[in-house]
Amino acid sequence: MAEIVIVENKEQAGALVADAITALVQRRPDTVLGFATGSTPLPVYQALRERFADIDVSQVRGFALDEYVGIDPDHPESYRSVITREVVEPLGLNPELVRVPNGDPETAATAGDDYEAAIDEAGGIDLQILGIGTDGHIGFNEPGSSLSSQTRVKTLTEQTREDNARFFDSIDDVPRHCITQGIGTILEARHLVLLAFGEGKAEAIAAAVEGPLTSFVPGSAIQLHPRVTVVVDEAAASKLKLADYYRYSYENKPAWQSL
Ligand code: PGA
Repeated sequence: MAEIVIVENKEQAGALVADAITALVQRRPDTVLGFATGSTPLPVYQALRERFADIDVSQVRGFALDEYVGIDPDHPESYRSVITREVVEPLGLNPELVRVPNGDPETAATAGDDYEAAIDEAGGIDLQILGIGTDGHIGFNEPGSSLSSQTRVKTLTEQTREDNARFFDSIDDVPRHCITQGIGTILEARHLVLLAFGEGKAEAIAAAVEGPLTSFVPGSAIQLHPRVTVVVDEAAASKLKLADYYRYSYENKPAWQSL
């Protein structure tokens, strides 16, 4: 099962995950990281700034989870722009080694296959950072997404568009389509790190971690993966039935086990 780590706050979560990523990059300088966008991973990226300043990250490679279709790549809320602003520039990564799915509607039919080929060529993703939507999505795999799906175009739910409207001037500006790594793509990463903060994510986390495996809760696909770390604050953990067991397990974690 996934390891569930209940932390006091986002900063603690960010430090914990950033330490694991830094150790990975020190072991393997050309590590392939899977980057999520949204608010959730920001504490990780923040904590990586000082850590990455002290090590050689010139060979680190990265793949974003998703992109809006039909958004100008230079729009400040395109995930290309977000990844450049929040990850590539502050962490000192080589921009040529960090890919984001191509959201150009003209090439949307083939962009998914191209992205899959690029991930394969890189040798697969070593560590995939994930957030979870209030509707249980991972990446932009909305409820009902095939558990073996690959990178492809999806239609966003109204819930997701409403959730993301805060990044745009109005909900009318939020694109209706996206291109996202599939659930099958995500499951191929060697280590999944799913983060969630706040009460608004409590139901999605409980359903993903303890609910039945179902495409209606795409996050529940983590139950199929042999190496998953779920890092949540108390509020996001508040609906977990076995929270005490997760705390006990983590407190008694053998020293030889890494995150
Ligand atoms: P958030 O989004 O991190 O902005 O809450 C998570 C997601 O939609 O996957």
